[in-house]
Amino acid sequence: MEVSLANRVMALTPSSTLAITAKAKELKAQGVDVIGLGAGEPDFNTPQHILDAAVQSMQEGHTKYTPSAGLPALKKAIIGKFEKDQGLTYNPNEIIVANGAKHALYTLFQVLLNEGDEVIIPTPYWVSYPEQVKLAGGVPVYIDGAEQNQFKITPEQLIKSITKKTKAVIINSPGNPTGVLYTAEELLELGKVCIEEDVLIVSDEIYEKLVYGGHKHISIAQLSPELKDQTIIINGVSKSHSMTGWRIGYAAGNKQIIEAMTNLASHSTSNPTTTAQYASIAAYNGPVEPVEEMRKAFENRLEIIFDKVVAIPGFSCVKPQGAFYLFPNVKRASELTGFNNVDDFVAALLVEAKVAVVPGSGFGTPDNIRLSYATSLEQLEKAVSRIHRFVESKLVG
Ligand SMILES: Cc1ncc(COP(=O)(O)O)c(C=O)c1O
Repeated sequence: MEVSLANRVMALTPSSTLAITAKAKELKAQGVDVIGLGAGEPDFNTPQHILDAAVQSMQEGHTKYTPSAGLPALKKAIIGKFEKDQGLTYNPNEIIVANGAKHALYTLFQVLLNEGDEVIIPTPYWVSYPEQVKLAGGVPVYIDGAEQNQFKITPEQLIKSITKKTKAVIINSPGNPTGVLYTAEELLELGKVCIEEDVLIVSDEIYEKLVYGGHKHISIAQLSPELKDQTIIINGVSKSHSMTGWRIGYAAGNKQIIEAMTNLASHSTSNPTTTAQYASIAAYNGPVEPVEEMRKAFENRLEIIFDKVVAIPGFSCVKPQGAFYLFPNVKRASELTGFNNVDDFVAALLVEAKVAVVPGSGFGTPDNIRLSYATSLEQLEKAVSRIHRFVESKLVG
């Protein structure tokens, strides 16, 4: 049969992060000793009390459909989390639970964008933002989060990129792939522009709990009632509670937007998986210690590994303040080792040094690579010394 696919999916670029993970797994299955630094998920198991709550919910018979926007008890737990962590108050009709933060974002763009509407995306960006915007008929407009400015965008850049068609801007703090963390002052300045120009702020806060060096995560929505009004917060349990496979995320904000998202969900997913919702109630209502223990483990790895990474010839790196990635600029290293570009350098790293990293080209920044430190310290140290040896062995001149 001749297959003819819809135009909207023909233009889709496959996720570069998932592609590298798949390639590393394939090599491992062939018996090659590859160390994968491509992971976008914590390497810890989901905390025990969450597993227990999931099992208990099933045994009690909670195995049926739930409301499309999520269980009232889960919404209550999420509302409690916002009050405790950000001092933000939401009503239940201002929250929708989705099948992961990725799905919350997907649904949001579907209900928000008309053909040709623009969404401003700072680079480097998380790989799914542009694709999701395009799938909804929107147009991604990129702003260069300059490395010299710690990958942050400025209010001046934001003003310049706003047009009559601008619908929203995405702010991802702490950010993937850079670990960038915006301060309250910086967010206020960006927020001022969004209010003046009436641009919706999509604040992706999925790495909220993974912040280091005594820094604190601030949500742009907590800075003023006007900014809360102007913002849809996206968050979830994937990264904070090591629950990537459970697929629970959510959006919070304007009730008309949330209602439209709920209508769409009612015809697409019906509801997020019931068991995973019960697990997420336990995540938010349960002890905070397991979350803090994971955060500390990530911070410890960052401290140990960062100095080793910047010691590699031709590597330079902005020190991340959150998430679990390093995003070094390796343009100089690829030149010093005789490669034409960073993509070729990354391909050789996998084949020759047996280390899988993600090329920055997938994040809109071709001079960098993303190293995830969501793997054991032992593996990390081994991987970084392999990269170091690889670069030294290839130095030309
Ligand atoms: C910036 C960012 N937003 C959203 C997500 C999606 O999270 P979830 O697993 O909840 O769909 C990810 C996952 O990698 C991410 O890095």
